Amino acid sequence: MEIIVCKDYEAMSRRAAALAAEVLCETPDALLSFPGGDTPLGFVHCFADRVNAGEIDISRARYVSLDEWVGLGADDEGSCARFNRTELLGRLEKPFLDTHIINGAAADIEAERAALDAYIAQYGPLSLSVLGIGMNGHLGFNEDGVDFGLNAHIIPLSETTKKVMPKYFGEKFHPEYGISQGIAQIMAAKRVVLLANGAHKAEIVARACRGAVTNRVPASILQNHPNCFVIVDEAAAAGL
Ligand code: GLP
Repeated sequence: MEIIVCKDYEAMSRRAAALAAEVLCETPDALLSFPGGDTPLGFVHCFADRVNAGEIDISRARYVSLDEWVGLGADDEGSCARFNRTELLGRLEKPFLDTHIINGAAADIEAERAALDAYIAQYGPLSLSVLGIGMNGHLGFNEDGVDFGLNAHIIPLSETTKKVMPKYFGEKFHPEYGISQGIAQIMAAKRVVLLANGAHKAEIVARACRGAVTNRVPASILQNHPNCFVIVDEAAAAGL
């Protein structure tokens, strides 16, 4: 893995967007996946700005979402689908060729899981998987203890994730499960970018990048990815 330390959040976001631009230049019919959460906000805005400025062409590219809280749909505060719509897709003046956004509120969540697998099987592997990191080292909703061999799956949320989740939707929702692309799909991506910012992420970033590769820290598997960039701000790099 290549670790890129940027001076601040803005620089981290711009660096990640530059990398996404490179991927689209090399692979115009790319399949892209970005995370939800706080970390990627600057990145997706910068990406959308560059698309709108005509610097990145996504007219032949596809986009698939990474994960979702089971029970939450695109209109629900704090859902990843809402993040995708408002922060990314809704900002694009020139759209992707096609998108697949996980519906966590689907009546048949197993069918939703299967549809995610089918989409990635049809148009994948991912050309670029951009990821955030949870406080327990999760990627998407690949929580600690996850089976690294899995494709899309539905997984009980860890206690750490449950403690963190009110920052997205307060006490309005109490999801018990997440639906997520699996580590097998992330590891099959041609390029992976892990983003992290802030001092609160320093310890888990150090464990993921410098510690043992173990499913107790799911992001540590990225040490085995042949084309992985970890882009962090100085605060998140403090333990490296
Ligand atoms: C969330 C999501 C992840 C996200 C991570 C970090 O729970 N499931 O996809 O990358 O945790 O979130 P944040 O960027 O808000 O710290």
